[in-house]
Amino acid sequence: MSKTLKVGVIGVRGIANTHFPGWRDSPHAELAALADVDGEVLRARGSDLGIDRLYDDPYAMIADPELDIIDVCTPNMYHTPLTVAALDAGKHVICEKPLAPTPEDIRTMIEARDRSGRMLMTAQHFRFEGAAKALKTQIDAGALGSIYHARSWMLRRSGAPTRGTFVEKKHSGGGPCIDIGVHILDLTLWMMGNPRPVTVSGVTQDRLRKLPGAFSNWGGAIPDSWDVEEFAAAFVRFENGATLVLEVSWLLNHPKTHGEDMQMWLYGEGGGAHWPQNILLRTDNETRQHFDVQLQNKAGGEPHALECMAFAEAVATGAPSPVPAEQSLDVITVLDALYRSAADGREIVLA
Ligand SMILES: NC(=O)c1ccc[n+]([C@@H]2O[C@H](COP(=O)([O-])OP(=O)(O)OC[C@H]3O[C@@H](n4cnc5c(N)ncnc54)[C@H](O)[C@@H]3O)[C@@H](O)[C@H]2O)c1
Repeated sequence: MSKTLKVGVIGVRGIANTHFPGWRDSPHAELAALADVDGEVLRARGSDLGIDRLYDDPYAMIADPELDIIDVCTPNMYHTPLTVAALDAGKHVICEKPLAPTPEDIRTMIEARDRSGRMLMTAQHFRFEGAAKALKTQIDAGALGSIYHARSWMLRRSGAPTRGTFVEKKHSGGGPCIDIGVHILDLTLWMMGNPRPVTVSGVTQDRLRKLPGAFSNWGGAIPDSWDVEEFAAAFVRFENGATLVLEVSWLLNHPKTHGEDMQMWLYGEGGGAHWPQNILLRTDNETRQHFDVQLQNKAGGEPHALECMAFAEAVATGAPSPVPAEQSLDVITVLDALYRSAADGREIVLA
């Protein structure tokens, strides 16, 4: 099969490196161009990948008529203008998480998508990870029945990415909520069948980074420019009566010195589930037995690469977006309400 879709990637320093293998391995797409406002990073990446169509100006790349797909991998605050410009130029867009840091920006992107008739997908790679796919298959087959409560967290003891991309609000739009909260919240809502959130009560905290000698194992010293939260928690109610307790943090006195503790517990009438261990918990009332089932993970692949391949496949075959922007809008609506609730000290009722 010939590779017909030509891809241009914007922002080629960090996460983009996990997308390149997906474009290489996709039978439908190939990497054709790169853009970055940092000329040094751009030329180094072009040389590594053997790509000579290099743009210092991402909007010049978006205007390139040879390209079919734009892959947005810049810091969060640039996702909306670049995505809207790309959709208006007739390109299909896959954009890193968060799709944008505010619900208003995501609505603007959805309008551009609908105006253009092109595809828009959020790069939520955890949906493409083997254990998540196996659990989702079971849930869709009814293994848990109706899920009425979830507990989810993504907690790092000392794992703040201290680059401006993440800790300066003008680039990131928020702290761990916006950075890693989107991962665990997107995954949880997807497992729950994307029920509509109706109320959010939340808190944010900003304490450990201010202590003398505070540090992060993921980036060294804490910069003075850090102006986002370090911890957040929320209680969310959904239209179908289900509830969720969510906790996220970059700095917390919680086990796991390196790496992170990322878990999701789902509770339904037909059973419970624990991810990523992927255990189903069942109760047989007739024999009064509890029993646990260990799921086999779906055969894998690297999830960032798989999400790019899934996007190209959907564009090539006319299938729906593998991660629809409307679902990302719900994720950011909850996190935006969490921030508002924390600021106002009250529960937020969503329209
Ligand atoms: N899915 C994941 O697991 C994951 C992990 C890390 C980051 N991310 C997301 O990826 C995005 C980028 O994060 P990163 O860690 O790669 O950041 P980074 O700082 O390592 O790289 C960002 C690159 O974008 C370039 N850039 C900045 N503004 C630009 C603009 N307007 N036009 C063109 N290029 C621009 C920078 O020069 C830099 O090279 C963020 O949205 C982040 O949330 C996702």
